Amino acid sequence: MDIFDRARSFDLAHGARQAGLYPYFTAFDGPDATTARLTTGEDVVMCGSNNYLGLTADHRIRAAAKAAIDRYGTSRTGSRLLNGNTPLHDELERELADFLGMPAALVFATGYQANLGVITGLLARDDVVLIDREAHASIYDACSMTPAKVRRFPHNDMDALRRRLAACTAEASTLVVVDGVYSMAGDLCPLPQLVELCGEYGARLLVDDAHGLGVLAEGRGTPAHFGRTADVDLLSITFSKALASVGGAVLGSPEVIEYLRHHARSQIFSAAAPPANIAAALAALDVLRNEPWLCEQALANAQFVQGELHDLGYHTVPSETPIICVPTLDVTATVLAWRALLDEGVYVNAILPPAASPRLRLSFTATHSPEQLKKAVSAFAAVRKLLPVGAADDLAAAS
Ligand SMILES: Cc1ncc(COP(=O)(O)O)c(C=O)c1O
Repeated sequence: MDIFDRARSFDLAHGARQAGLYPYFTAFDGPDATTARLTTGEDVVMCGSNNYLGLTADHRIRAAAKAAIDRYGTSRTGSRLLNGNTPLHDELERELADFLGMPAALVFATGYQANLGVITGLLARDDVVLIDREAHASIYDACSMTPAKVRRFPHNDMDALRRRLAACTAEASTLVVVDGVYSMAGDLCPLPQLVELCGEYGARLLVDDAHGLGVLAEGRGTPAHFGRTADVDLLSITFSKALASVGGAVLGSPEVIEYLRHHARSQIFSAAAPPANIAAALAALDVLRNEPWLCEQALANAQFVQGELHDLGYHTVPSETPIICVPTLDVTATVLAWRALLDEGVYVNAILPPAASPRLRLSFTATHSPEQLKKAVSAFAAVRKLLPVGAADDLAAAS
């Protein structure tokens, strides 16, 4: 058996492309704005971006990134530990810690690497890591790289988590890992109960708040939304959503952050985030501090669409965030609906297994206009018959 055999027998992409039903790697020609231009020259309403505050095309963020290129060039060509660090990276760490109310921060090149760094940097043999079944793939990947015992618990099921914690031996050091906001459905983790359970069993808690930062609690995220920032041991974030850039960070106590600075292999053995990315994140953070109403606007836009979809008979998963999940019957129904929506001039994300159960994922930003929101709703009205409600109903209830 040649290891390339599995590549030769993989024809999903080819078949779907032939049928015009391939929902991935769509190329966009222009900025990630609410109107997105396809390479065919057509404009569509973008309802599948994580640009929650609408800042990727903002002149202030672009100017900051350009100034950083002028000063530092395009890349540091090395890890922060050696030749890759700049005052911008250090400043962003101070700003993030201050804004999020955490003692210290460590900046990584991506949010994915931040999760790899914190989880593999801290866990050792005989430790136990308990993860929510719907935690982000980067958390799964990080756990698979540690020698620790990995246990999953059903999504947001605190009774199951309690049983798993109770089953850990007294000597085992335990880490519980959850998403603050679950990116595929937009629901939140039950943070107060998680904090209490971790306290009761002496476990540490890591919250990945990729989709809470810049969205909830005037942008301060899920811990602030629940008023429990001081009770969260570790927070991981990304700059690739509300902060309109690319990069990530881990926040926690000064000694843990200092330890990770010298033990997080995903940072030590990978090049630093380019200064332009860091400058963009700093500028976006500044906008977020000064214009917290942008978070409210993103939420209000999503709530408007959610209400309209409900009136059309769609049963979306209840969400307190700008993410809307429309469960679908199966893979075929998902790609057919995705294509039909695109033909109506609206781009959404088609989510298929193994990422999650089939669904359409929509996300809204502070800068969608009322006309764009109405266009999205009209498109969903037009494709209504492709998305049978009975089946979607069961999936929505199961999510
Ligand atoms: C919950 C969650 N964590 C981590 C990441 C990784 O972030 P990044 O895009 O910065 O690698 C993502 C992005 O997809 C995410 O949704």
